[in-house]
Amino acid sequence: MRCSLFTSLVSLATIAASVMSASVPAAWEAALNKRDEPKYVFAHFIVGIVASYTQADWTADMQLAQATGIDGFALNIGTDSYNPTQLGYAYAAAEALGFKVFLSFDFSYWNASSTADIAGYISTYGALPAQFMYNGDVFVSTFNGDGVVDWAAVAAQSQALFACPNWQAASFAGASGLSCGFNWNGNMTTAGDEYYLQELGSLAYMMRTLSPKALRLTSNAAHTAVSPWFSTHYGPASYNKNWIFYSDWLFQPRWEQVLQLAPAFVEIVTWNDFGESHYIGPLHPDDPEVYAGGATGAVQWVTGMPHDAWRDVAAPYIAAYKAGAAAPTVTTEELVYYYRPTPKGATCTDAVPQPTGYEDDDDLVFVIAMTTSDATVEITSGSNAVVSIDVPAGITTVSAPMAVGSQTFALTRGGATVMTGTGGLQVSDSCTVYNFNAYTGTVTA
Ligand SMILES: *[C@@H]1O[C@H](CO)[C@@H](O)[C@H](O)[C@H]1NC(C)=O
Ligand SMILES: *[C@@H]1O[C@H](CO)[C@@H](O)[C@H](O)[C@H]1NC(C)=O
Repeated sequence: MRCSLFTSLVSLATIAASVMSASVPAAWEAALNKRDEPKYVFAHFIVGIVASYTQADWTADMQLAQATGIDGFALNIGTDSYNPTQLGYAYAAAEALGFKVFLSFDFSYWNASSTADIAGYISTYGALPAQFMYNGDVFVSTFNGDGVVDWAAVAAQSQALFACPNWQAASFAGASGLSCGFNWNGNMTTAGDEYYLQELGSLAYMMRTLSPKALRLTSNAAHTAVSPWFSTHYGPASYNKNWIFYSDWLFQPRWEQVLQLAPAFVEIVTWNDFGESHYIGPLHPDDPEVYAGGATGAVQWVTGMPHDAWRDVAAPYIAAYKAGAAAPTVTTEELVYYYRPTPKGATCTDAVPQPTGYEDDDDLVFVIAMTTSDATVEITSGSNAVVSIDVPAGITTVSAPMAVGSQTFALTRGGATVMTGTGGLQVSDSCTVYNFNAYTGTVTA
């Protein structure tokens, strides 16, 4: 079955493949019965960093999301004074495009006394045409905040809610006002999802992608939002947040898990969290203010590091998920590559040391091959000899050892080159910043 999509180049890929070929446990039956219901894909959008946005900026982002098959943005809000301005733009832009939005209250900022304030937001925005409604109710979500507010009380003060907060599985017992759970955590297997589904019972499930928690966890993992590609590098003079989560093989395998579990909702984390390097939205070279943290912040590891190519991988998976298909359909062949800018052993002239956990990364260059029939991926990294890897029809992630210099990728079939291209960034061991973000790009025919 779909495990054939995985090339067992490394043990991790083998683990992922063997787990995914396991038979579906009985605990999932209730969830699988929901396959016939409409499916929705959202992307987590941090409103707290877009104070400078115009409505046109919102429109541009939403158009890119729509082109990927994303139905709406989960609008992550704290208590910023510019919330009304930006939410006004967001709801207006979405309405004009037929896109959907909902509020995702960030409980790093909201608290047990916030019930009336949250209800006020829901009353104001829940009534607007772009609000995502589910079963006739206002859809609302959160980041953190297990049990901090009672969602039945929020609904009593606002509107009927389809509340899908980000809660830990252990918190569901006795909770009131919940229709759904949003699982922020997970790991390389579907074990975390399976456990969460069990605890949810008959409630709907919102699954997060891109990123399950990494297998090789760092000690601070338990207290941190878990992410797809995750690297952040704020020094002690800034947010003092300097670690990675191992993400080498996360992106495409997690989409396979989405197809396998077929939850009611999927939330891509994130559209624009530049600080933690898990954005799939566009860069903002003309407005680097949106990269949080000023001159010593994310601008250092985000500038010139596009992630747009990952949307090309998401699109066929989103289409398959919505169709209830077991596998994505590739109609246009493409190679999506990703790699770090620097070997992990390089010494940079950086006052902030390497992020915690950096040793976990492997010095590899990755290609997600999207092919319509059997083919061969060729990766030439720096002065290394070309590495050739056979891939079946479908979507397959492969890798080759990284070397400094230019990175060249080709797809061949029967000895003929179908497409070839060179990565937009050279790998270098001379560096001013310990940048463990990924550079992505595409090769097309
Ligand atoms: C709790 O949240 C409210 C907004 O609902 C905010 O005004 C208040 O400052 C917060 N209190 C604390 C102690 O953070
Ligand atoms: C994945 O999550 C499940 C459920 O929480 C847990 O039992 C399992 O140990 C986790 N696996 C890893 C490798 O962290």
